Amino acid sequence: METKIEPSGGKEDRRSRCKGWWWWWFFVFVFGVLVVALAVVTILRHYFHSRPSSGVPSHPGDVAEEYVNALGIAMQFFDVQKCMGTPLDVVTDYLAGKLVNNRIAWRGDSGLEDGRQAGVDLSKGMYDAGDLMKFGFPMAFTATVLSWAILEYGDQMDAVRQLDHAHDSLKWITDYLINAHVSQNVLYIQVGDPKIDHDCWERPETTTEKRPLTQVNVSFPGTEVAAETAAAMASASMVFRKLNSTYSGLLLNHAQQLFAFADTYRGSYSISIPQLQQFYNSSGYGDELLWAASWLYLATEDRSYLRYVTVGNGRIFANWGTPSWFSWDDKYPGVQVLLSRINFFGAKETSVSENVGLQKYRETAEMMICRLLPDSATATSSRTESGLIWVTEWNSLLHPVASAFLTVLYSDYMLTSRTPVLYCSGKSYKPADLREFAISQVDYVLGKNPVKLSYLVGYGIRYPQYVHHRGSSIPINATTGCQDGFKWLHSPDPNPNVAAGAVVGGPFLNETYIDSRKSSTHAEPSTYNSALLVGLLSGLVSRSSVPKSFV
Ligand SMILES: *[C@@H]1O[C@H](CO)[C@@H](O)[C@H](O)[C@H]1NC(C)=O
Ligand SMILES: *[C@@H]1O[C@H](CO)[C@@H](O)[C@H](O)[C@H]1NC(C)=O
Ligand SMILES: *[C@@H]1O[C@H](CO)[C@@H](O)[C@H](O)[C@H]1NC(C)=O
Ligand SMILES: *[C@@H]1O[C@H](CO)[C@@H](O)[C@H](O)[C@H]1NC(C)=O
Ligand SMILES: *[C@@H]1O[C@H](CO)[C@@H](O)[C@H](O)[C@H]1NC(C)=O
Repeated sequence: METKIEPSGGKEDRRSRCKGWWWWWFFVFVFGVLVVALAVVTILRHYFHSRPSSGVPSHPGDVAEEYVNALGIAMQFFDVQKCMGTPLDVVTDYLAGKLVNNRIAWRGDSGLEDGRQAGVDLSKGMYDAGDLMKFGFPMAFTATVLSWAILEYGDQMDAVRQLDHAHDSLKWITDYLINAHVSQNVLYIQVGDPKIDHDCWERPETTTEKRPLTQVNVSFPGTEVAAETAAAMASASMVFRKLNSTYSGLLLNHAQQLFAFADTYRGSYSISIPQLQQFYNSSGYGDELLWAASWLYLATEDRSYLRYVTVGNGRIFANWGTPSWFSWDDKYPGVQVLLSRINFFGAKETSVSENVGLQKYRETAEMMICRLLPDSATATSSRTESGLIWVTEWNSLLHPVASAFLTVLYSDYMLTSRTPVLYCSGKSYKPADLREFAISQVDYVLGKNPVKLSYLVGYGIRYPQYVHHRGSSIPINATTGCQDGFKWLHSPDPNPNVAAGAVVGGPFLNETYIDSRKSSTHAEPSTYNSALLVGLLSGLVSRSSVPKSFV
């Protein structure tokens, strides 16, 4: 095309020899310009249409650039939250927490001595949110979600160069969990005391406050936290199977022991240790037992776990027919989708009654999904005017992101198993309809919302500047300590350090947002918010449906 508007030397010669050709060359020139302009417009249209704003990429294998960028940013939050030990001036037993591959310039070594008073190395793991607490229950859930995302979408993470980062982040938690499980029936579930911690506003690198430990054991059981930890380790054992079979085996061994502990000594951790009710109070442990057993079945193919979730305990715990909201407290929707996977793709051998149980989980999963799809007869009214799922004021983005993650998984199970539709009160929905819902939620989070704000910190043109996060809000050269550090909480200035990848609590039901550090309800991020977003984005970076990667 360019040759038409850039005549060769030969043509120039002919034009100079014959004046009558001038008009002809003029037409050729104009025609050429039009052709080039048309081509440019076509290419631009194609480019913009293959971006996520218009839905899904145009060819399988295409990547959606905006989701790729968002995924890379969301993944950074795990580095922001890492609790890290100091490498050199400590006894070798404490080397595990050595700061490696630090990608966050304003983060350094911290929490080196965690666990030391009990002779345990709890220096790794991740801070839960904006404070310096390590809460085992939501931390284990973060790991389980991250494992699930890797197992389903590891190929896609790899294609956009995020898989190593995901493995590293997961291992940072599972290394901690291995150490926290000190013997068959003893699991450390918390580092730090929220009362001491919340009376200070400090950087993790400089804090000198006491960090007491909390454990569950035979006399003070914690079924949900032990079972969630078992789920995390069982799922991670599958992630690491090909990378390091020794490590994978170690995780599986811990998972089986923890499940036995959780199941044998039944009791809720927030009843055994009532002071824990203030943070991450548990509404019950039946869901975590089923969740752990489901992951153990997938990891071991041991049929006793399948019997456990179906004929054994399904009727007791499963709440079939009652859809709920997936969260750090409620694993039921996760169990339903995970066991639907087995129902879609088949298990090695199952009895009739086991299959009936699996079918009931799948029916409940579909009820849960029908509730999410905006135009189904059973659509929930728990959403904002422009369509964001909105269930609770505290951390309002948890439910839309968690629900969208499950919906993408389910739509991929449908595609892979060639299941053309699911029915909601007689109306049929295709996998693309489920995906469209998920895209609507993630696009909202990334800035397609009435206030045009990205709730993913570091992504887009406008994102929250006053994230409720100690490390992010305090300059690294600050010399403040525990109490006087609160001046950084109350400072009118934006955070000096960007908590990249943080997904803040989120908007009000009326879709406004208050960018205020003082509102932990709206402005505090958490590791599980980011893990769920990582799972969701990994499922959306490419259009290809999920392969049967791990069953
Ligand atoms: C068992 O756990 C409780 C609650 O964390 C703790 O108070 C108690 O000391 C533990 N028991 C033992 C033998 O360590
Ligand atoms: C595999 O995992 C084991 C157990 O954690 C560890 O000791 C070993 O160094 C790992 N091997 C490699 C090659 O990383
Ligand atoms: C914690 O959860 C239990 C069980 O749902 C409930 O009975 C209790 O009132 C809750 N505690 C707080 C402080 O919310
Ligand atoms: C910290 O660094 C900032 C920016 O370089 C500077 O403005 C400030 O004065 C420093 N504060 C202290 C206490 O050194
Ligand atoms: C949105 O809702 C919050 C909480 O109910 C309220 O404080 C705020 O004023 C509302 N904003 C608008 C613009 O209505």
